[in-house]
Amino acid sequence: MTILGIETSCDETSAAVVRDGREVLSCVVHTQPQHQPFGGVVPEIASRCHIRLLPGIVKQAVAESGVGWHGIDEIAATRGPGLASSLLVGWSLAKGLAMRLGKPLRAVHHMEAHLHSVFLDPAAPDPHSVYPMLGLAVSGGHTSLYRMPAFGRLELIGRTVDDAAGEALDKAAKLLGLGYPGGPVIDKLARTCTPHQGIFPEGRIGDHAATGGLNPDLCLSFSGLKTALLRRVETAPPADEAAVAQLACDYQEAVVGAIVRRVEKALNGARYLAVGGGVSLNSRLRTLLADVCRKRGVGLLLALPRHCGDNAAMIAGLAGTGRGILSPAAFDLDIDPSWPSADSVA
Ligand code: KG4
Ligand code: ZN
Repeated sequence: MTILGIETSCDETSAAVVRDGREVLSCVVHTQPQHQPFGGVVPEIASRCHIRLLPGIVKQAVAESGVGWHGIDEIAATRGPGLASSLLVGWSLAKGLAMRLGKPLRAVHHMEAHLHSVFLDPAAPDPHSVYPMLGLAVSGGHTSLYRMPAFGRLELIGRTVDDAAGEALDKAAKLLGLGYPGGPVIDKLARTCTPHQGIFPEGRIGDHAATGGLNPDLCLSFSGLKTALLRRVETAPPADEAAVAQLACDYQEAVVGAIVRRVEKALNGARYLAVGGGVSLNSRLRTLLADVCRKRGVGLLLALPRHCGDNAAMIAGLAGTGRGILSPAAFDLDIDPSWPSADSVA
């Protein structure tokens, strides 16, 4: 099964061709630079860029795959979650292509695809052999923990109640004048320092009502952290670059530490931990997760760096395992910017 995947949920315009869920024949990703001056993604700019660039990127992905249009068996695209106006561009083009080519169309869940990205590494085990698994999706828009008892079954067991981890890092970088996206800059700066524990507070979660019924022990809050950094910068502005680096390092430690503590609590019974999303590139997070997994005898599955951020290979890959909503039902579907999870998808 050779699938053309399309991903436009945020500010990456991407198309890819993947065979049988794992073999990436081509993957073109364009990260839009237009958002940098704003310190965050501007939805209207993002969708306008997708409209301009996506047709060329799709053509390029098909050409680079070497299979040609006749070699594409199915079209898959992200239906949600993500920015509405961005999702509309990719989903509409996917519908049009599937109609024109007379191929099946499949709606794919973006977060489930992030978790599938670990299997695009040829060295990863068979996706059917890793359960029960715990899934951690950490990106600019999401920080979520999924219990995955069997292939294709996802149960959301924890999430952030406010900002996502990537968003918390991006906002801190903006405050410290480090540019956008802030995650990679903070990661680099933090490597030059030794983290101090407990400088920034762990976010208070509240009760089950605040978490939408999820166990508060497995949920996260990052908005208080951001306020704590703001107060600190106002009351004691960092005197030099070294002081900025130390602040960034301590802040990152708080974000990463909070995630790792939730993972530790949720690992019970899991054979593997799969980690996807842009923040999974973070070197400190990778080190701490590796330590925890070693200690607990759990296999750690990390995506290759090129598949950590938003990319269409993970969309075409997940589609190749049979997940998602297939046509004819897919042709009647609208995008879903807050598609809760794909656990009800056959
Ligand atoms: O998955 P992604 O590309 O897009 C979303 O779906 O959000 O993730 C983007 C996020 C940004 O917040 C960015 O700052 C963060 O991933 N990020 C990192 C690193 N590289 C990217 N965060 C921490 N450390 C990194 N090395
Ligand atoms: Zn993403």
